[in-house]
Amino acid sequence: MVEILPSILSANFARLGEQIAALETAGCRMLHVDVMDGHFVPNLTIGPPVVESLRKATRAILDVHLMIEDPDKYAPVFIAAGADQVSVHQEACKHLDRTLRMIRSEGAKAGVVINPGTPVAMLDDVLDVADYVLVMSVNPGFGGQQFIPNALRKVRQLAARRKERGLQFPIEIDGGATKENLGKIIDAGVEWVVAGSSIFHTVNPPAAFEEMRRIAHDATAVRV
Ligand code: DX5
Ligand code: ZN
Repeated sequence: MVEILPSILSANFARLGEQIAALETAGCRMLHVDVMDGHFVPNLTIGPPVVESLRKATRAILDVHLMIEDPDKYAPVFIAAGADQVSVHQEACKHLDRTLRMIRSEGAKAGVVINPGTPVAMLDDVLDVADYVLVMSVNPGFGGQQFIPNALRKVRQLAARRKERGLQFPIEIDGGATKENLGKIIDAGVEWVVAGSSIFHTVNPPAAFEEMRRIAHDATAVRV
């Protein structure tokens, strides 16, 4: 099942509750929440209190993407705040297998993320302890960047490994997704597409969400 995940990084934070409610009415089931610490990436965003408020405001699945240096310390805090699933960067984890198992034991789905410069092979030994895999299609830190096409090659490699090994993890892509490149993204084997500026930097975010979902569903129908 393909899902479009609006990334709240590009939302109007002064009207966040309202914008999320409108997306939920349009059928949004998953929200992407970017956490940045100013160290792992050159930007600062939100912390656990925002996730706690979001948890009260929506029934959507909260997909928390940790772009921080000490994910072991903070993943449990975000789970306690209401994150349903938490992804950590391979590049930020000294003991990746341990961190993924810890996230599961804290009661959330565990995702693993790779940056554009990191090969898929780095994940070979954790694919069976990850509930989903996130391929960055921009260098993390900011919304509104251009899609890096090599991400699609990595998605295909992951989809092939998933099939070979009889695994089920969804593949997520994050960064630069637009109405225009969505068909190619779905074709490559992605199930979850994060979209920030192509939803929130439009005059009508719920309509942009619905249009992206329709394009994704049409592309899935031909994928098989
Ligand atoms: C980038 C973040 C993304 C960002 C995507 O570091 O991880 O989730 O919000 O935004 P767009 O869709 O505008 O590239
Ligand atoms: Zn993200």
